[in-house]
Amino acid sequence: MRTENAVAPKTIYLKDYTPAPYLAKQVNLSFNLLPGKTIVTSSVDYVKNPAGVSSDLVLDGEDQTVISVALNGQPFEDYTIADGQMTIVNPGHAFSLTIVSEIHPEANTALEGLYQSQGNYCTQCEAEGFRRITYYQDRPDVLSVFTVRIEADALAYPVMLSNGNLQEEGMLADGRHFRVWHDPFPKPCYLFALVAGDLERVADTFTTMTGRKVDLHIYVRAGDEGQCSHAMASLKKSMQWDEEVYGREYQLDLFNIVAVSDFNMGAMENTSLNVFNTALVLAHQETATDSDFMSVEGVIGHEYFHNWTGNRVTCRDWFQLSLKEGFTVFRDQEFSADMNSRAVLRIDDVNTLRRLQFSEDGSPLAHAVQPDQFIEISNFYTKTIYDKGAELIRMQHTLLGAETFRKATDLYFDRFDGQAVTCDDFVQCMADASGRDLSQFFRWYKQAGTPSLQVSSHYDASHQRYTLTFKQSQPDTPEQTNKQPLHIPVAVGLLDAFGQELLPTRVLEVTEREQTFTFADMADRPVPSILRGFSAPVKLETDLSDDDLRLLQVYDTDGFNKWEAGQTLALRTIQRVMDQPEADITQFVADIGTLIAQGLSGQGDKALLARALSLPLLGVIAQHQAVIDPAAIDAARTAILIQIKRTHKEALAALYDLNRNSGEFSMTPEAMGRRALQHAVLEILTVTNGTGCAARSKAHYDAADNMTDRVTALACLADSDQPQRAEVFADFYARFKNYPLVVDKWFSLQAIANREQIFEDLAMLRNHADFNIKNPNRVRSLYSAFAINNPVKFHDPSGKGYAFLRDVIIELNTINPQIAARMVTPLREWKRYTPALQAQMQAALEAILATPNLSGDVFEIVSKSLK
Ligand code: ARG
Ligand code: ZN
Repeated sequence: MRTENAVAPKTIYLKDYTPAPYLAKQVNLSFNLLPGKTIVTSSVDYVKNPAGVSSDLVLDGEDQTVISVALNGQPFEDYTIADGQMTIVNPGHAFSLTIVSEIHPEANTALEGLYQSQGNYCTQCEAEGFRRITYYQDRPDVLSVFTVRIEADALAYPVMLSNGNLQEEGMLADGRHFRVWHDPFPKPCYLFALVAGDLERVADTFTTMTGRKVDLHIYVRAGDEGQCSHAMASLKKSMQWDEEVYGREYQLDLFNIVAVSDFNMGAMENTSLNVFNTALVLAHQETATDSDFMSVEGVIGHEYFHNWTGNRVTCRDWFQLSLKEGFTVFRDQEFSADMNSRAVLRIDDVNTLRRLQFSEDGSPLAHAVQPDQFIEISNFYTKTIYDKGAELIRMQHTLLGAETFRKATDLYFDRFDGQAVTCDDFVQCMADASGRDLSQFFRWYKQAGTPSLQVSSHYDASHQRYTLTFKQSQPDTPEQTNKQPLHIPVAVGLLDAFGQELLPTRVLEVTEREQTFTFADMADRPVPSILRGFSAPVKLETDLSDDDLRLLQVYDTDGFNKWEAGQTLALRTIQRVMDQPEADITQFVADIGTLIAQGLSGQGDKALLARALSLPLLGVIAQHQAVIDPAAIDAARTAILIQIKRTHKEALAALYDLNRNSGEFSMTPEAMGRRALQHAVLEILTVTNGTGCAARSKAHYDAADNMTDRVTALACLADSDQPQRAEVFADFYARFKNYPLVVDKWFSLQAIANREQIFEDLAMLRNHADFNIKNPNRVRSLYSAFAINNPVKFHDPSGKGYAFLRDVIIELNTINPQIAARMVTPLREWKRYTPALQAQMQAALEAILATPNLSGDVFEIVSKSLK
């Protein structure tokens, strides 16, 4: 019996929040995992919440059959079930309620609640998956102590895990066994987890700052044990970093990570039992790229950091999701910055923010970091909640300074440990610890949209005065107009005409719609470096000349702004070519030559040079266009790359040779930088897709001793029609067909091809024996790779790209509504495209909306997109 479609889409409002009517003092769950069904018995001791406003107990439950209910040990039938809720009218002040129900994890393709992945059982309860396991107050502000008994066949499911510590285990009749887990720390049900299966364990330990030994276990499928060392090392680094930077120690004696191949998202921070997508655990040089290694480190950190920011202090309601996600993303970004190159990480994060969050802000789905309403909370695990949320924490860090920020987080953990709180509570701690008024700053949480910040400069030679005038404006977004000015920290430094730093970074606080800052004693007109480190998530427009930007590109002391200056020059050049294809771009091409020469001198950070040599991606360029025409952007971008190649072919080839793989494989930042630089250079050298290009890429592939270099070669061959393309892709598949995560790459690298027969390729991939509609990684590897990373063909004037995506959304709607809804993302910005493309995108959205039995998930995104 499926019930979730019977629940009509209903909007939930933040303003309607009321405390839960009942508190759960303790929860006892018992799982009997049987072939074909699972019997769940939940016994909960409830007590009336003094803060509650109703006296009815209302429990959420979906997709299950109730077998029996008992109140205080007596059979009980005086309950009603309607619209996914069980209601018991006035059950009393304190009572225990036992509910036995039957669920079907083997038939669960939504991958929420209890489900199976490759024969093993696992759970995903955030946000509202627990209600698919048993009837409960499925809301984050009900915290309770959980004891969990699991029973299953001992041979098929030797590993049985839940949160906390193992309390009891034993054999039963018929070859079955049981285990009892107890988590002494009260938690909301979204942090509950259960795993049962046949898994191998990789073990290590960590000694905490107070000398406690913690067992660290990573569970994977047999054969994958050799790909866990990077995840394990990352976990230990995370634990140490959180002690050093935030003073936070891990509280239990055991920390488990389980890797599963069927997972809707990246990973899940269930207390002491993190469940991960295999893509974010497994990493080996033969099968994972440098960027995979970085993602593993970042996400292992992210989920570990949730232990304090999310679990020990949790969210009062789902409107506060960014309380834990924004803060935890900020923490994982800073962790990665400390472990690697700070500037490189910042560049990559800002690129992602601009490409994916700014575009969300520019769409009908724009929403605030603390939204006011939603239909389906799963749809709010967005770039805005996560990445813009992280920028909001970063700005508070910038405004307070590292030391005061740390005082504020200490206060936050002290004040709220064991509680479910709000974003307002977090900002209040920042205000209390610093003595600052952050009420204007809080508007960042409530106002959607990317602000624009215009800067004009003026030099007054007679008074030796330099001024910067800032004008901020906030775009209208759905249901939000006439927005208030924000409190924007703008990190600024000043350089002289020779590139010497006159004024080191200082943070200007822009709070007015228009505001001028004056710098005295300026003997000459300085060159300003504005928004260093991208100190605020705004669209910056300056009046800097190309010469100013060139100076910053060479001399800025801020690594991010050095790169940014080059990107701004590139954006200006792309725009000139789009406006006039014959435009003279000699100067820009010559500047690239200077960068190449720098690389040939062997000086400078190679990872940064790789990024400096890369033109902005189409998705970033699009954010600067009034009307988006992907083909026109691509044509201009490619024309510039071709001119760069023609002008600097020999120097580029020399730079490629200089950075050849020599000796042992290594994962040092230096080695990763070298590979990234080679990739950037090869991409330019192969832009024309001719015979020489294909030969070069094939040679790169043949010389590769690691996945990064192989993927570089495949990426550079993807658009080609030369025979080497088929050879290399076939070899790659043959070598790695038993590694699902590598087969995902094989799908993606074909889906991003900008070439004529792409639609035949897509059809072939869709019908490939390895395609599996029920596996989210595989679906993403084909459809998201195409729709997000192949903008030219996705927006093909024929509309075939839209149709391809539309069909899979309709197909997934009944299989996995969360993934189906997520797939709509590339269509939601339809109003920003050319009229012809708009019409086709709109038609695709309307066709989806007309689908019978549309899930609430898909309904929300599509109906809001069309508004
Ligand atoms: N809390 C998880 C994380 O950020 C995300 C899980 C969200 N799951 C979902 N089904 N929406 O690490
Ligand atoms: Zn998270």
